[in-house]
Amino acid sequence: MPSVKSSAKRWQPAVTGLAVLIVISLQALSHGAGWTQEPVQPRIDEEFAKQEKIYRRRGGGSYTTNRGLSDYAEVLPTGFCDALARLGSSDRWLDIGAGEGHAILDYYAHQGDAAPQKCGGAGSKARAVAISIEDRRTDRWKQQAASLGDRMRYRAGKRLSQYSRDELGKFQIITDVYGGFTYTENLSRFLENVLSLLEIGGAVYTVLPAVHLEDGTDKLGTWYKTELVDAASRPVKVSSWLKQTTCTKVTCESKTGWDEPTQLIKIRKVCSGVSVPRTNLVEYLAGAPPNRRFQLEQ
Ligand SMILES: C[S@@+](CC[C@H](N)C(=O)[O-])C[C@H]1O[C@@H](n2cnc3c(N)ncnc32)[C@H](O)[C@@H]1O
Repeated sequence: MPSVKSSAKRWQPAVTGLAVLIVISLQALSHGAGWTQEPVQPRIDEEFAKQEKIYRRRGGGSYTTNRGLSDYAEVLPTGFCDALARLGSSDRWLDIGAGEGHAILDYYAHQGDAAPQKCGGAGSKARAVAISIEDRRTDRWKQQAASLGDRMRYRAGKRLSQYSRDELGKFQIITDVYGGFTYTENLSRFLENVLSLLEIGGAVYTVLPAVHLEDGTDKLGTWYKTELVDAASRPVKVSSWLKQTTCTKVTCESKTGWDEPTQLIKIRKVCSGVSVPRTNLVEYLAGAPPNRRFQLEQ
């Protein structure tokens, strides 16, 4: 896959009628006078079409969809396992972009065993909902779901943004491990939707690979997969953008020893007036995960 920077050079002169249309419609959707947007990449819809194929690909060419609960414990911020263990039987956990739903399966495995679970505890279990664009349910999921009834649910066929709030209900914990947050083409709307599904006092645990880290420990020459710029096209860290979201408390941890600089993110909802600073997509290259560039509105 070409890098975002080299591709951007290639894209600039090739302004097609389609690109003009995209720019016009995005401008029509944007708010406030004086907002100047970076040119939107031509043929961005071709990248969206390629991305659809990636979601549906199976076998060797597919992306990873079977991370278990111990993998979630490793890639999510500190405190995730304890928070999961504290949930009671009437609480709810939503896993966005759950793939095969292995993390939820592991959470329910050995229920009632004397041996405590390493993540999520061995006590009472919350209700869990897995969502994925494509249906990746395995036989193991179907067997376990049959014995647990509606305590464990799997919803597929739509993106998070296509559910009404009532359809999914509210949750105490929401996780997203290389799911919608890493893949969405509308970052601010995605986060707004996630936070609308969270109870006050609840938290989102997520992760973003190949980003500018809050503490600046990412190495020079990194190939970034999610980039944010301000209205004047200056780089903005994901952590800085997140921290402008009202009614939330955001904490970020950095993983630098990994292949890609990775930000582990916890977002606690502290009141109901959540407002996420709006982002506009200016570049998107299909992939697993895709390369994305967003521009913040003023
Ligand atoms: C790389 S897989 C990760 C699966 C699982 N979390 C894991 O770590 O094994 C990406 C998952 O995110 C889902 N996904 C991507 N964008 C989404 C969105 N906007 N809404 C819901 N699911 C989404 C895909 O359908 C897929 O299930």
